[in-house]
Amino acid sequence: MQYAGRMTSAETIERTDAFLTTVGGEWWRTAVIYQIYPRSFADASGDGIGDLPGITSHLDDLAHLGIDAIWLSPFQRSPQKDAGYDVSDYCDVDPLFGTLADFDDMLAAAHERSIRVIVDLVPNHSSDQHEWFQQALAAAPHSTERARYMFRDGKGENGELPPNNWESVFGGPAWTRVVEADGEPGQWYLHLFDSSQPDFDWSNEEVREEFRRILRFWLDRGVDGFRVDVAHGLVKAEGLPDYIPNPEAGSMGGEAENVPYWGQDAVHEVYRDWRRILEEYQGDRALAAEAWLPTAARTAEWVRHDEMHQAFNFPYLETKWNAADLREVIEVSLHAFPGVGAPSTWVLSNHDVVRHASRLALTAENPQGHGIGPDSPGQPIPEVGLARARAATTLMLALPGSAYLYQGEELGLPEVIDIPGDARQDPTWFRTNGERYGRDGCRVPIPWNADAPAYGFNATGASWLPQPAEWATLARDAQTGVEGSTLELYRALLAERRARSLGAGSLEWIDGYGTDAVAFRNGNVTVIANTGSTPIALPGGIVIASSGPVADGELPGDTTVWIETA
Ligand code: NOJ
Repeated sequence: MQYAGRMTSAETIERTDAFLTTVGGEWWRTAVIYQIYPRSFADASGDGIGDLPGITSHLDDLAHLGIDAIWLSPFQRSPQKDAGYDVSDYCDVDPLFGTLADFDDMLAAAHERSIRVIVDLVPNHSSDQHEWFQQALAAAPHSTERARYMFRDGKGENGELPPNNWESVFGGPAWTRVVEADGEPGQWYLHLFDSSQPDFDWSNEEVREEFRRILRFWLDRGVDGFRVDVAHGLVKAEGLPDYIPNPEAGSMGGEAENVPYWGQDAVHEVYRDWRRILEEYQGDRALAAEAWLPTAARTAEWVRHDEMHQAFNFPYLETKWNAADLREVIEVSLHAFPGVGAPSTWVLSNHDVVRHASRLALTAENPQGHGIGPDSPGQPIPEVGLARARAATTLMLALPGSAYLYQGEELGLPEVIDIPGDARQDPTWFRTNGERYGRDGCRVPIPWNADAPAYGFNATGASWLPQPAEWATLARDAQTGVEGSTLELYRALLAERRARSLGAGSLEWIDGYGTDAVAFRNGNVTVIANTGSTPIALPGGIVIASSGPVADGELPGDTTVWIETA
């Protein structure tokens, strides 16, 4: 794989044939994309927070794992009030993570290994430290500076009430009142997330133009695409009407219909515009929507032929370890996404949800974003969680389409439940006064070496979230080459998936294995997952992968197997 040398600002990258694909065979249709959460991946500087040189130094490990692409959560300049999802300069690297030159080095090194790189783009809101927001605060109500964000006059006699009843995803009101130049309380601004994350006004052409510039900045550097944060939230309903919150809904709106700030039709024009920009570039660049919508069919609206290329399949992630529910969500997904010309995607974990090695064994409801702590109901039994997680991944990686992995799941990492309150960092924890634990438990720096400081996360032992004492056995070096380890399971699955082109395959359901089975054929591979506890008699054939021990022709509960059949 040859790439032009390090990029300089506006230079356009020359792509070689190996990175050019034909229509229908684009890389993202079948890719396994590994999410790197930079602050918790690897820390070359030793300050306790991961960085870009840390990523570069572990790219060989990712190549060894067998993934096709990486997605990096934000590393752009940010005061880190929401771990980088509060961006103050979209076209620079935060010094915590390194420099633009470090980014270019990382990108080139990934491309040399045939690993594509997509970066996070956060267009719904900026940091309150962004130059534009600072200008807005200093400017008068109804000025052009304020028009880039959602400033409104308050209700009540003196504007003392917020403009509507919307709540922040992280808890508390979604509006904060500012103090005007005369020292008096004044207008309110909208923040669907933390008060340090003011929402842009996407009806303002200046905002749209600024994001075109930002897209081009990273495309010119050679990125392969963007994961678009809160892609269902940019446009708000006309007049900002009140919303009656649905207590059942996940915090990012997953189960709720008709929310005036999620999924508004006019948002699609933004992505049609961006799609046209990506198409100006060589080499198959892609947009992936983070859109929490109630169904796969709704999610597919974000990936129509002239919009984004992929959307995260959160309805799949939110499905319990239950065969009937899994069969249904897979079936619906396989119609919904290909129905609009997009590939199905699959995902089980990310930096916003309880890791699936714990989530799949929870015995009480746990809405997305709430997290779990020591006193949460329905605590998972670790062994059950790990068995289910391995079985769920073995099922997922046999499905046609593209799959997302989250760093550490290949080690079988569980959610860290007992993080002390004074070590927690998620704004959710603070905005709900500790009522919701939030997402720190899935963000703990990952273990590389069993016997090194911070398990090899860095050389100093510093870690921005405390790592559990029992993680030595889960460290990458403790699992490498160990038969039956979760790491070797992932490696085997990824190698077989690639060798047998399962991502480009198709799914044919198989009946006859009982209500607890998810059974299908993809090419010459028969896949059977047993979500129950009664063993299932297996058909003949060669077992090519299995999430747990399979003996005497029987598939135990919480286990998935791949069998080569004629
Ligand atoms: C979704 C991101 O995944 C999450 O981590 C972040 O807090 C919110 N969007 C706000 O940007």
